Amino acid sequence: MIPANTMILPMSFDAEDFLQNYWQKKPLLIRSEGKTFVDPISPEELAGLACEDFIESRLINCYPDEGNWKLRNGPFKEKDFLKLPDKNYTLLVQAVDQWHEDVRAMLKDFSFIPSWRIDDIMISYSTDGGNVGPHFDYYDVFLIQGLGQKKWQLGGHADSSSKLRANKELRLLAEFDTKQEYLLEPGDILYLPPNLAHWGIAIGNSMTYSVGFRTPSYAEIISELSDDLIGQLREDQRYQDNAPQVPQRPGEIPAYAIRQVQELLLAQLNRPDIIAHWFGSSMTSPKYPDISVIIDKKLDAAALEKELKAGAQLYKNPAARFAFIRNADKLQLFADGVEFSCDPGLLPLINHLCASADLAVNLLDAVLQKTGAEQAAAVLTILAKLHNQGTLLLDYLPEGVPEDIPQGRQT
Ligand code: SIN
Ligand code: CO
Repeated sequence: MIPANTMILPMSFDAEDFLQNYWQKKPLLIRSEGKTFVDPISPEELAGLACEDFIESRLINCYPDEGNWKLRNGPFKEKDFLKLPDKNYTLLVQAVDQWHEDVRAMLKDFSFIPSWRIDDIMISYSTDGGNVGPHFDYYDVFLIQGLGQKKWQLGGHADSSSKLRANKELRLLAEFDTKQEYLLEPGDILYLPPNLAHWGIAIGNSMTYSVGFRTPSYAEIISELSDDLIGQLREDQRYQDNAPQVPQRPGEIPAYAIRQVQELLLAQLNRPDIIAHWFGSSMTSPKYPDISVIIDKKLDAAALEKELKAGAQLYKNPAARFAFIRNADKLQLFADGVEFSCDPGLLPLINHLCASADLAVNLLDAVLQKTGAEQAAAVLTILAKLHNQGTLLLDYLPEGVPEDIPQGRQT
């Protein structure tokens, strides 16, 4: 078994300095400082994942002589890989952290950024010259170099007004002006803020691990929040003329009418409770909502307690997303897009559930040891609900440690 990397970021990495001066602002090259980087996954394993129909994957061939790129979406068949040329292609597999425990372990280093901001780890495998073309992303990304080397060229700012190449599917920039260039070796990390043009070209066989982040667009925020708000509005809430006047020109919409609509909208949006509910749900909504877990048996608190006492262990589904919001008298847990109201006294436990990178959930022991029966019952009720929606999985491994990530997800 290949040992997992214990730490990817070098000792000298200063998270405070990074957040103040680089995060969302400017790129940063973080050299490995001589630490050995062990690829947690092999190119063959990655290709295997790209053959699964529930895993998102892409293959990009580049044709440097023609200045062209061709995209194919997965799932792939083994024979697709046998037909590939020796050079100039890149295989990309999304959200490998959901399927591979050692890849997921890489996220432990990124706890200086709230976990609900992290989207996934995408892995690319390229042969010599392979690249996905000059482009920009709307999200921050840490590009961790694994196997081999990659030359990264950084350009300037790019956005939705930047000119794209004819092949719109790949969203490649029509113009790219190299301003900085870095050669990444195994273990080096390049952080890029959103909207920075970049272009990475493999030198020899090369693997890159991209830690990407969730950045909902204004359009998504307004559209999804509106859906939540609409559910709360009554038919009898209507536009009103608050200061009617005899119109001089009856066909004219006066400025006060527009102001009234604006005030109506602002009053509806001035609802932190609705915003909190939507944001918590949205940031924890599953990346692939169509992939769901088949739950053999739904449990209530008592039934779950019985299972746990009989030696079962609860594990987080590797795809599960957690966050919580607290204010004076409220503690809201969000798990896979669903809100659970919790007793504020459960904060240490909820915090542990949300923050811990470990898949094993050992909350019950702590509760039973440190708190009263009432709190234990409240925790069991929440855990049972999380189990019933596939966020937590029950397993009976004797050592209490999963040999592999519990593969509970099915298409
Ligand atoms: C790569 O891994 O080569 C591409 C990643 C990216 O540019 O976002
Ligand atoms: Co990119």
